[in-house]
Amino acid sequence: MLTIAMPKGRIFAEALELLRKAGYTLPAEFAESRKLMIEVPEENMRFILAKPMDVVTYVEHGVADLGIAGKDVMMEEERDVYELLDLKISKCHLAVAGLPNGRMPQIAPRVATKYPNIASSYFREQGEQVEIIRLNGSIELAPLIGLADRIVDIVSTGRTLKENGLVEFEKIADVTSRLIVNPVSYRMKDEEVDVLVRRLSEVIPQ
Ligand code: PRP
Repeated sequence: MLTIAMPKGRIFAEALELLRKAGYTLPAEFAESRKLMIEVPEENMRFILAKPMDVVTYVEHGVADLGIAGKDVMMEEERDVYELLDLKISKCHLAVAGLPNGRMPQIAPRVATKYPNIASSYFREQGEQVEIIRLNGSIELAPLIGLADRIVDIVSTGRTLKENGLVEFEKIADVTSRLIVNPVSYRMKDEEVDVLVRRLSEVIPQ
């Protein structure tokens, strides 16, 4: 039996579609259900649904053998998991954004983000000293309300930036979802994992 941690939210639907394309029969109500643990005995699989950042934690602790996690989450914290595949789904990018005429103050500009490590290393590399303000969501609000001069966040369609009158200044990195595995599971369940990797590899979008 393989336990797979799946991220709730926007990645979930695309990940589900990819698994179905790879030939896995997953119950129709899978997407609508509020259940957080779903067993699929026919496929010898069990899925757990977690917040994207927590998916990696479940895999790292070995309570999930595998997980689907965005590259953004993998970049933010060094974790004891292996990345097996770039699934090339949920494409987006990490960017620096702000108000169109919002200049960066000379002294301690403030950057709001839910990626404090990515943001600090990015600005350090740019030679800029910034104050990081950690938020958990709705990051685009921060410049509007005067909490921050810049944000570092995910841009997918660009709609959230646009509808809030913000613009993108710099791209930090491209992001796609990755298949990750717990190192012990990878050793102990190598055959099952290899089958999943092979089946998924065949249907990864180009
Ligand atoms: C993400 C991200 C942006 C938005 C970008 O937020 O933080 O706010 O999506 O998508 P777009 O470019 O297609 O508009 P999410 O919906 O994950 O919610 P959050 O506010 O909890 O971060």
